[in-house]
Amino acid sequence: MNEGAVNVAIVGTGVIGAGWATHFLAQGFAVTATDPGDGAESRLRKWIDDNWPAAGRLGLAKGASRQNLTFTTDVGTAVRHADFIQESGPERLDVKHTLIATIESAAKADAIIASSSSGLSVSDIQTGARHPERIVLGHPFNPSHIIPLVEVGGGRLTSPENVAKAIAFYTATGKKPIRIDKEVKGHIANRLQVALWQEAISLVQRGVASVEAIDAAIAYGPGLRWALLGPFLNLHASGGPGGVTHVLQHLGPAQREWAKDLGTCPESDEYIESIAKGVEAELTPYDFTEMLRQRDELLIQLLEAKRNLSQIP
Ligand SMILES: NC(=O)c1ccc[n+]([C@@H]2O[C@H](COP(=O)([O-])OP(=O)(O)OC[C@H]3O[C@@H](n4cnc5c(N)ncnc54)[C@H](O)[C@@H]3O)[C@@H](O)[C@H]2O)c1
Repeated sequence: MNEGAVNVAIVGTGVIGAGWATHFLAQGFAVTATDPGDGAESRLRKWIDDNWPAAGRLGLAKGASRQNLTFTTDVGTAVRHADFIQESGPERLDVKHTLIATIESAAKADAIIASSSSGLSVSDIQTGARHPERIVLGHPFNPSHIIPLVEVGGGRLTSPENVAKAIAFYTATGKKPIRIDKEVKGHIANRLQVALWQEAISLVQRGVASVEAIDAAIAYGPGLRWALLGPFLNLHASGGPGGVTHVLQHLGPAQREWAKDLGTCPESDEYIESIAKGVEAELTPYDFTEMLRQRDELLIQLLEAKRNLSQIP
């Protein structure tokens, strides 16, 4: 792909597609978006307007402009000239199959098709495709115009070259792609989140602490350092001069015991009411819309600060 003249197509402009559209417009690319939903174009343009100040803070490339967005309700028209297609349609395999078939009927044979799918495997998505070798996973995190992580991987029929191309492309746009070497349900980051949520729910159910206390345990505890270094480097830091080897030898046996006591995933929806009540109680003194605005503001400040620290990976 020639970085100077990249045409990007966004297929599906819901929460995630709108974030991607903002990101690629901010990179100075021509973006063509498509979505059949009622009012999709005006909703998308409003989202991009709302997201644009954040994109500006993170840095607009030369020539970046919201004017570079074209909208069409026709998927074929949207992808015809695209070098990179970010599929962000509904999370249903049958819909993804129909979308891939429509995309392939009009797209260039070597255009990369990256799916934002949170839970479907690329191997399943690429079944029946004409050029399955160019279908990759490009899984972002919400808000996708701010959070740098993109999980990239291939299915059984994806060529490793195209996974590498997608990684290089996302990197060039300022994202932080990671490669998934082997397909697993839910990819990586969401599995880590699910492990934590499973235990958080269990602690509430067992009466160990309130929803609010558990949120504080993360937001004022390990969550602060997890935004800077991942779980393994933090473990290494906890080991003093002996690093990760020492800490695992020292605390590993106790951790294995705690692991035996961790909660399992609830079998039914009965837990939801108590969690929802806990969240409602925690939010009572706050305005949630303003909370999210302030969260995004802090996220941007954190990303800006991290960029200036040479020894933070
Ligand atoms: N919401 C998240 O936090 C999140 C995070 C990462 C990845 N994802 C993934 O991103 C994808 C989109 O999720 P979302 O949350 O933006 O969903 P969403 O419901 O907000 O948006 C989906 C959009 O697809 C549109 N659509 C329906 N049929 C279509 C078609 N034939 N062609 C084009 N567009 C069509 C809908 O009108 C809608 O606007 C899913 O695969 C999801 O798993 C979501």
